[in-house]
Amino acid sequence: MAIERTLSIIKPDATRRNLTGKINAKFEDAGLRIVAQKRIHLSPAQAGKFYEVHKDRPFYGELVEFMASEPVVVQVLEGENAIARNREVMGATNPAQADEGTIRKEFALSVGENSVHGSDAPETAAQEIAFFFSGLELVG
Ligand code: PPS
Repeated sequence: MAIERTLSIIKPDATRRNLTGKINAKFEDAGLRIVAQKRIHLSPAQAGKFYEVHKDRPFYGELVEFMASEPVVVQVLEGENAIARNREVMGATNPAQADEGTIRKEFALSVGENSVHGSDAPETAAQEIAFFFSGLELVG
């Protein structure tokens, strides 16, 4: 089993409803360790850059506006197969399709306001971690 790191974002719909602690408990209960974490308020330019991969999709403007609307908590989760494990704990992008017990089933409001983001592969995890954190901020 590989020990991996993945980038997680607790999105504005969840920080607004004071759900950071409940969501972090889901990660920790699943064996994921929070090795870095900070609360920030993204500018539209920063959110646009982070989600640049989706820039041609119809919801891009809405997604960027939402992610810059209120603070987010960005974090690095570490553990065995952390990338896949985190995506299991998050549940499907659309909460209507998410399994019972997942974060999105329990907390997400819609496919856009879906409470959490998680990296989808080792390459994107490395890029997304470097987008928000310096090496000095990662305390394993
Ligand atoms: S996935 O998991 O990447 O396959 O999901 P995908 O459907 O491609 O969605 C990518 C991100 O865009 C968000 N999204 C939306 N935001 C606003 N409105 C609409 N309609 C919408 N549809 C998808 C979705 O929450 C994904 O965000 P992240 O942060 O990557 O999970």
